[in-house]
Amino acid sequence: MSTLAVYSSPDTRPRVLHDFDDIASVLGGIGVLFEHWEANRPLAGDADPQSILAAYQDSIDRLNERFGFQSADVISLQADHPQKDTLRNKFLSEHVHADFEVRFFVDGKGLFYIHKNNQVYLVLCTRGDLISVPADTTHWFDMGTEPCLQCIRLFTTEDGWVADFTGSDIARHYPDFDEFERTFAPAKA
Ligand SMILES: [Fe+2]
Repeated sequence: MSTLAVYSSPDTRPRVLHDFDDIASVLGGIGVLFEHWEANRPLAGDADPQSILAAYQDSIDRLNERFGFQSADVISLQADHPQKDTLRNKFLSEHVHADFEVRFFVDGKGLFYIHKNNQVYLVLCTRGDLISVPADTTHWFDMGTEPCLQCIRLFTTEDGWVADFTGSDIARHYPDFDEFERTFAPAKA
């Protein structure tokens, strides 16, 4: 189940939401797009990237028309990946991109942290969720110690994007993916 926790500071209790429309509304208020997509054709568990992209082509086209995305790819990461820790650490610190960061969760989960207007929005994305973090929005991302995710990524340039780190240690003060799941996400998420 998708979950949003909004912190005014690391030491205060966050406002926690589980209702999808409520989450989308709050995130929309800070310019973050949050949608739920359905596949427009049945999709096998071991589908190849082309089949995955084809299954969501209608939704991808709709977003492309709105935002001008130029390319899309599919990434998968499971807990048995030999470099899972390195990959996890890559985006664990606060950063920005000069482009949107768009992720659609075909399967699995991931936790986005968006730092905006002196608040931190922790967004647990689950299967079927689309999140779009605007360019130049400070954020970070945690996939947890046992990652399980398959995502479609959308880019406005063929080159994709690079992270520009802010140097802040803010990420250390908030629950990581594992703690967040234990604390806020229902077990059957
Ligand atoms: Fe990022």
